[in-house]
Amino acid sequence: MQKLQISQPQTAAQNPSYDRTDWQRGYESQPNEFDYWIDNIEGEIPAGLQGTFFRNGPGLLDVNGQPIHHPFDGDGMICAIAISEGRAHFRNRFVRTEGYIAEQKAGKILYRGFGTQKPGGWLANIFDVKVKNAANTNIIYWGDKLLALWEGGQPYRLDPRTLDTLGLDTLDGILQPGEPFAAHPRIEKGKNGAGDRLVNFSVKPGLSSTITIYELDESGKLLQRHAHAIPGFAFLHDMAITPNYCIFFQNPLSFNPLPFLLGFRSASECLKFSPNKPTQAILIPRNGTDEVKILETEPCFVFHHCNAWEEGDEVFVDSVCYESFPAVEAEGGFREVDFDSLPASELWRFKLNLQDKTVQHQVVETPSCEFPTLHPNNVGQPYRYLYMGVADAPRGNAPLQAILKFDFVTGERQIWSAAPRGFAGEPMFVLRPDAVAEDDGWLLSLMYDAANHRSTLAILDARDITKGPLARLHLKQHIPYGFHGCFTPNVLLPIGS
Ligand code: FE2
Repeated sequence: MQKLQISQPQTAAQNPSYDRTDWQRGYESQPNEFDYWIDNIEGEIPAGLQGTFFRNGPGLLDVNGQPIHHPFDGDGMICAIAISEGRAHFRNRFVRTEGYIAEQKAGKILYRGFGTQKPGGWLANIFDVKVKNAANTNIIYWGDKLLALWEGGQPYRLDPRTLDTLGLDTLDGILQPGEPFAAHPRIEKGKNGAGDRLVNFSVKPGLSSTITIYELDESGKLLQRHAHAIPGFAFLHDMAITPNYCIFFQNPLSFNPLPFLLGFRSASECLKFSPNKPTQAILIPRNGTDEVKILETEPCFVFHHCNAWEEGDEVFVDSVCYESFPAVEAEGGFREVDFDSLPASELWRFKLNLQDKTVQHQVVETPSCEFPTLHPNNVGQPYRYLYMGVADAPRGNAPLQAILKFDFVTGERQIWSAAPRGFAGEPMFVLRPDAVAEDDGWLLSLMYDAANHRSTLAILDARDITKGPLARLHLKQHIPYGFHGCFTPNVLLPIGS
């Protein structure tokens, strides 16, 4: 494979770029809900940037003082920042899930989670296999519905203006009650007059796992639905798409159900990574045929794919890879994570040859990275620019504190860092109206500002992020580190705001 032109990383920093206590405070619960016009803005909101930024993430990292063990289990809290004519309005609301309502009423943890056990030891957990739908992973605005997503369950629908919870949603009958809908849909831009499509999946894991693919048109109507059995246990958080395939990486993870059933361990503690087994790239044809292709590649763990595209008989996939599953240890919890003992993530470019069924990959050197994003028109297509949250230091594992722009054509890397006291969230690319160039837009990232124990929406010029934010919208309070979100050009405010 042709070597990508990349800048060589500099020498690793001798000292951490962050203070551990600073980083930990970004995981303090935010139990309060706010509603205000943002009056502390540094710089200027760019003319032309108009719409609503939504982001989901765990708002509570404890229930009435009882700590949860994994941030994946924190109750989903939606932030909405509506931007119009140089002004911005902030609102946050918890998703009133069944679990949130019940636990707030009881004042204690009532549910097991991905990595959280109910207090009281194994006797309190034995044979309770119900995991709380935290509705905390992503938020999408599709077919006039605002939906909070969590990969193990149904979406929760919210009012897009008030963020009031409207309840579990079946997508107008597409989903059966309890049927999951993954938290990582991909939106394929329509070409030649065709409308956009939302492509998503669900997984039923087991000794053999079933992947179901859903394709929805712009109004939310079902265009395609097909299910496929694949061998082995599948833990699939994300997928990539091309015009012809949905692509999954089945990492060499196995699940031992016994300690979970007997209440001794949480689900995440029953996952085991096998470093000597291959990762399987699974390509499911989007036309619904059974011609599923499975190719083997090196063992690695992937939460997030950046993008994929086709070139003749070859499919390229860019992914954020770990050398093993980055598990949170049973003791201590996520705030005590030893970054040095966990694998740093890397950006890998895979080349899948569908003719000879071979996979090659190369590592694109970047700092430890997560939350990849790109211009929405290039999803499933060749692309030039990738944006990610990255660590400040060029090497080693550390919290995300910076935003990286990578140019796959020139190998140029632009970085803007908020270190030492700022911590980065997922960057979101918003294209400038009438933009022509692929990087003509803005990057929006909700960051944690430890110096002021508050969060800030940073708005960067995607053409040159090194000059720093064009605007920093300082919130009055902090928002715990979150996961994913979306941007709609609709300015969604409560009537009368
Ligand atoms: Fe994710």
